[in-house]
Amino acid sequence: MKPELIPVLDRQTIAQLVCDLGAKISEDYRGRPLVLIGVLKGAFIFLSDLVRSLQIPVEIDFIQVASYGSGTASSGEIRLCKPVDVDVRNKDVLLVEDIVDTGLTLQFLLDYLSAMEPASLNVCAMIDKRERRRTGVSIAYAAHRTQEGFLVGYGLDYDQKYRELPEIYHLQF
Ligand code: IMP
Ligand code: MG
Repeated sequence: MKPELIPVLDRQTIAQLVCDLGAKISEDYRGRPLVLIGVLKGAFIFLSDLVRSLQIPVEIDFIQVASYGSGTASSGEIRLCKPVDVDVRNKDVLLVEDIVDTGLTLQFLLDYLSAMEPASLNVCAMIDKRERRRTGVSIAYAAHRTQEGFLVGYGLDYDQKYRELPEIYHLQF
């Protein structure tokens, strides 16, 4: 049977959430050299909207890891596919994620980035999904918090599908 798409966040709601987040980040980092690092592929749409809602200059880079196969649960095995190119040493770094689920990917990335001695390291996630969290990672900025469910759209995929949808949906199997 084909999975059903149940609307969670529409375009207007997403735009407002991202705009509010951009304003908050601009306020917190004003006057400091900030590097935004988007986690590929999921965060590409969120990051591109977020940077356009900022009122401060930033550097942008991407990092890519692989953990999920084609299922909906983290394998816990994380592999770095694309390292960062920008020099983050002594700069403020904001890691931009599409969604944090177990937190295992995030923990791996935070360990990797802290070794590069940034001045500070925080996390900004489009979605903070709590139910399956297995690490104590703290998420400084989250556009939307939810308990459970598998979400797609606005960059989020299921087996590489649905990323192009401008809204966020709950994928009901
Ligand atoms: P974690 O390591 O379990 O926190 O998983 C993080 C990664 O798994 C995210 O960056 C997503 O790529 C993917 N992921 C986790 N939950 C979802 C979801 O609900 N929809 C789509 N991707 C998800
Ligand atoms: Mg993914």
